[in-house]
Amino acid sequence: MKKFLGVQDIGNLHDAVAEALEVKRNRFAYKHLGQDKTLLMIFFNNSLRTRLSTQKAAMNLGMNVMVLDVNQGAWKLETERGVVMDGDKSEHLLEAIPVMGSFCDLIGVRSFARYESKEDDYSEKILQQFIRYSGKPVFSMESATVHPLQAFADLITIEEHKRTQRPKVVLTWAPHPKALPQAVPNSFAQWMNATDYDFVITHPHGYELASEFAGNAPVEYNQDKALEGADFVYAKNWAAYSGDNYGKILCQDRSWTIDDRKMSLTNDGYFMHCLPVRRNMIVTDSVIESPNSLVIPEAANREISAEVVIKRFLEEMS
Ligand code: CP
Repeated sequence: MKKFLGVQDIGNLHDAVAEALEVKRNRFAYKHLGQDKTLLMIFFNNSLRTRLSTQKAAMNLGMNVMVLDVNQGAWKLETERGVVMDGDKSEHLLEAIPVMGSFCDLIGVRSFARYESKEDDYSEKILQQFIRYSGKPVFSMESATVHPLQAFADLITIEEHKRTQRPKVVLTWAPHPKALPQAVPNSFAQWMNATDYDFVITHPHGYELASEFAGNAPVEYNQDKALEGADFVYAKNWAAYSGDNYGKILCQDRSWTIDDRKMSLTNDGYFMHCLPVRRNMIVTDSVIESPNSLVIPEAANREISAEVVIKRFLEEMS
């Protein structure tokens, strides 16, 4: 594996989940793989779970880990080629990337959508430059369009909790005061579409996801109807993708908040969210604190998804 951006990079999903469950039982069994190897984690945006879980996974594998918060302590980076750098940005990404690559064996990058240019975001302009110029394997720790380590952890969590072979999984939009990226719902949809689950997406009109991620998943605009019989409810906010509305908030309808009435429509369904979550916007206190809430084990599985992915990179290096 030279890069990890999506479900296409992980190979057979059944094998990947089996490997994850084995790694979860024996998470220090592969410590030899990372000896004298260094992971560099680069953050252009904030993080709690990705930072801790990915670092923990790399340490489980015996790696050295360096973390760079680009906006705290590093030189301010110019990302556009051709710019006359007479402003406040002291270094260009085109020098910074190969320099960073020279100090490590593997690079994780967090770089969210900026919502300035749909073309730049959906071409993964920042992440692709790391892939092209670092000389090292690169994985997304949530980039402009995808969050594959989250989606893999979500899949592991569903596999651990499913009560039927083919559960009904519903991805539902929920309200939020800010315009959030589509990376989490994009990846969740992409990974769910790669399973044989009964996968349904529900959101208000205007929130259609990019077809390359939504695939052929049915979209039900009536949230109550979508939730009927659901085994798993995956709530997330995202800003609009389509046309001139890219990056905009089109709806703040609080009736989309996941509450006890919504969960009562499900098949005693589990509640999932990637976190961080705005309580009583996305989900009520009551639902997130209920026994059917999986948000904590789901976050804990981020260590496992990261460990499988980093392990595979290391296996190819050895
Ligand atoms: N779910 C997730 O990626 O969390 P962080 O933004 O805290 O890393």
